[in-house]
Amino acid sequence: MKRNQLAKIVAPLLDWYHENRRNLPWRENTEPYRVWVSEIMLQQTRVEAVIPYYERFMERFPTIASLAACEDEELFKLWEGLGYYSRARNLKKAAQVICERYEGQFPAGYEEILALPGIGAYTAGAISSIAFEQAKAAVDGNVLRVVTRLTQDSHDITDAKFRSQVTADLETIYPAEGRGAFTQSLMELGAVVCVPNGEPKCGECPLRSLCGAYSSGTQLQYPAKKKKADRKIEQKTVLILQFQDKIALRKRGDKGVLAGMWELPNINGILSEQQVVHWLSERAFVVKAVKAPARGGKQLKHVFTHIEWHMTCWIVTCEYAGSDNEMTWVTAEQLENDIALPTAFKKVYQKCFLNKT
Ligand code: ADE
Ligand code: SF4
Repeated sequence: MKRNQLAKIVAPLLDWYHENRRNLPWRENTEPYRVWVSEIMLQQTRVEAVIPYYERFMERFPTIASLAACEDEELFKLWEGLGYYSRARNLKKAAQVICERYEGQFPAGYEEILALPGIGAYTAGAISSIAFEQAKAAVDGNVLRVVTRLTQDSHDITDAKFRSQVTADLETIYPAEGRGAFTQSLMELGAVVCVPNGEPKCGECPLRSLCGAYSSGTQLQYPAKKKKADRKIEQKTVLILQFQDKIALRKRGDKGVLAGMWELPNINGILSEQQVVHWLSERAFVVKAVKAPARGGKQLKHVFTHIEWHMTCWIVTCEYAGSDNEMTWVTAEQLENDIALPTAFKKVYQKCFLNKT
């Protein structure tokens, strides 16, 4: 089908959605605050992974005001493992803006929503349609996959102009009723039927008879993407630095990946045992012992969007921890219960130090 024929998908897709939608916690009620938090969490994380985080988050921060007033450390602890911590930081910032500017009431206009920290066109469209029943589309990777397959469109879906064209086209077909359901039906079809990574389940698809890719057997040619630039690989040497019953953490700088988060002390490059001792002695540590983790010298890998860290780990015991350094010393209990340590470092701690697999 052509993109100007998309109106035909509305009725069958809505019918299918009402019969087949998953019961997800953020679908129980569509209060804007609940929709907003769910869409932010779902941006870079899978539905199944989000659910427990979402439930804990809404329990701890049931209102916009409670989120606006929270401690960063508690917020990050609740977010630990979800990644992309700037999402959490922006949630709190936007909650504060809503309290200052709108007396704690989530604004209902698309432009006001779009102006909030951390909210782009996709999220503003999702909230406007799902929580406020506006004819606004939320076009993410799922929706682009469905639309490019239906219309056999080979445009590069990473192209912002193409995305906004698809958004505008979809907005012309929004039904008079069930606008939130229509937004979610497109996402849902992309998530459970017209799936990425492998064959879509066209046999279960309510749009099969309208679908260009299905009729020509070309499903896997869509969506077309420009080849991604390779991720940059960074070598890191990460230290589990122990003194008495504590280990050392530092705060990261406020630029770049994991800005402002806690980290295990680490040095760029692959350092030998001798080089680690040297690095520490320059910082007034007296080293008692350095050992490689029991799991062997193998590196641990952690993948971010544009960067990959290959981490070499050393476990160091100090006899004396020099006072003029940037370390914060924490117990295992504090690390477990109070501190949000990003997953890259958590992996090192658990696999190299606790020897968990
Ligand atoms: N992915 C993004 N938003 C979603 C939603 N509201 N429901 C299910 N999956 C989603
Ligand atoms: Fe996707 Fe297949 Fe449905 Fe076409 S028929 S929209 S390719 S699941």
